[in-house]
Amino acid sequence: MCGVFACIGQEDNVLTCLTGLKSLEYRGYDSAGIAGLLDGKIFICKEEGKISQLEQKLELTPFKSKVAIGHTRWATCGKVTSTNAHPHIDTYSSLALVHNGIIENFPDLKKHLQESGVIFTTETDTEVMAQLISSYYEGDILKAIARGVKDIEGSFSVSLIHKDYPDEIFCFSRECPLTIGYSKDRSHILISSDVNSFLGEDLEVVFLQDNEIASVKKGSVNFYSNQLELIDKKGRKITSSSLKPSKEGFEHYMLKEIFEQPKSLRLALQNYFPHEKPCFTVEGIDLKKVEHIHIIGCGTSYHAGSVGAYLFEDLANIPTQVHIGSEFRYRKPFLNSKSLVIALSQSGETADTIAAVKLCKEKNAKIVSLCNQENSSLARLSDALFPLYSGPEISVCSTKTFTSHLMILTLFAVKLAEEKVVDIDPNLSIHLKKIPQQVEEILSKLEEIQALSIKYSSFDHFAYIGRGYMYPASQEAALKLKEISYINATAYPSGELKHGPIALLDECFPVVALCQSKSTFEKIRSNALEAKARNAPVLAFVTKGYTVDSLDDHFFLPETIDQLSPILTSVALQVFAYFIAKERNTDIDQPKNLAKSVTVE
Ligand code: AGP
Repeated sequence: MCGVFACIGQEDNVLTCLTGLKSLEYRGYDSAGIAGLLDGKIFICKEEGKISQLEQKLELTPFKSKVAIGHTRWATCGKVTSTNAHPHIDTYSSLALVHNGIIENFPDLKKHLQESGVIFTTETDTEVMAQLISSYYEGDILKAIARGVKDIEGSFSVSLIHKDYPDEIFCFSRECPLTIGYSKDRSHILISSDVNSFLGEDLEVVFLQDNEIASVKKGSVNFYSNQLELIDKKGRKITSSSLKPSKEGFEHYMLKEIFEQPKSLRLALQNYFPHEKPCFTVEGIDLKKVEHIHIIGCGTSYHAGSVGAYLFEDLANIPTQVHIGSEFRYRKPFLNSKSLVIALSQSGETADTIAAVKLCKEKNAKIVSLCNQENSSLARLSDALFPLYSGPEISVCSTKTFTSHLMILTLFAVKLAEEKVVDIDPNLSIHLKKIPQQVEEILSKLEEIQALSIKYSSFDHFAYIGRGYMYPASQEAALKLKEISYINATAYPSGELKHGPIALLDECFPVVALCQSKSTFEKIRSNALEAKARNAPVLAFVTKGYTVDSLDDHFFLPETIDQLSPILTSVALQVFAYFIAKERNTDIDQPKNLAKSVTVE
């Protein structure tokens, strides 16, 4: 998953392109590059590493161009080197292109081109696309592109320039997002993988659909099918926040976003639980008739979905299955008119989740998505969208969108219980309303958690254990530690330890026990004591007043009900992971090998 940005008609297209790439850096930061046309020649500046490296290089070798295409890379094919950085060109240096996606049949295409004498200079699938289109070029670039995409299997969003078209950019896509924004008189044109990078520009916006091609130049934007028939596409105004994200004095976006959770949780309650009644708009879906639910998500969103499965069965008596997006296609889920599919995604662009949702749509299932991006591909695919109201989440490591997912899933389960006339604990709304303030209480004990992090920061392996609601919470806590501290952390249903994993434990392998939910406390404590018996250091996150004296360390959490315990426990464990990563001096907001939005399968 990479970021593609391009522009025409700006005062300084190269500089605008650089700024656009900075807003897309969350999509990958292995290398970056920009290309333009100078005196009928392709001019490229690219560098390994973050966009700041490219910026330094551009200061040394600046160039001006009527058109600019740019790229920030998350390496999928070919090592992280400046040679493999985009843009990529053909043998004749007649065209350059930038690509987000994966060309699955590139080895066959490459072999075919090599047999016809083409010499490759990089390890990438993208260079194969450049050479392929060039091999079809006979003076009409649109024809060459249309022929090229017919041969390609896989996903792509691409911007391309050609020396024979000095003031034009060509775009095409399949299963990867690409948005074109243009001013009323089409004098200003921006192209991006993410509409939000048009930061408050007053533009008409068009989302390129699968297999469509566009040619853009000052004053004109034309759209074609892959048969090169002209398509009439109407632009629409999009409200994208014009606010440039800032850390507001925090050292990292992650810590800032952790501290934003009381606010984002209050917003979720305000929007979905006004006057203590669940409020959800789901046109065309009769919630009374829902008899089974499938939840789909990846990474942290999958963990939120796993908590959701407990909530829908526990609060609304609806059988619920949760699916990892990339594995969904290999299952045969029971889907009929009484099924509801809930898709969870911060970005709304995760290719694995989108592919799974498309499979459900093929079976006429109704899709409800809980998503933090209202202008995303997932939002456009869904029958109903429940925005998270979390605000932009910049740190690659999801925090506030996870707890917003949990809060909104809980409220939606209450809604379904109401629709299906299932009795709910009358005190639930009291506990719900306490949550934001209880999160503030946990964050007021930051130093206490930091002290625990410092004490445990030198261990290279961790086991997290939980039961019931605390098991998916332990999976999420382990993921947080892995993502930002690069420590090998694994979550286990605490009852599973004795069936094998306990063999790993010793004085160098700490166990973090998630003991907050009352209904499972005794059992988790016994499992924690089994680990203690193997000399493993044990740290318990437990509700105030519950005794875990025989364990090594503990952090006391405010009291709540089991259904809400994953929210409070997760906040404390986000902070625990954050301070371990700080002790290890890792790149917390942009961890190695990761990206915020995974737009490839
Ligand atoms: C979480 O911290 C990670 N960034 C990652 O696991 C993420 O949750 C996953 O890629 C799914 O992303 P989404 O919510 O945007 O679909």
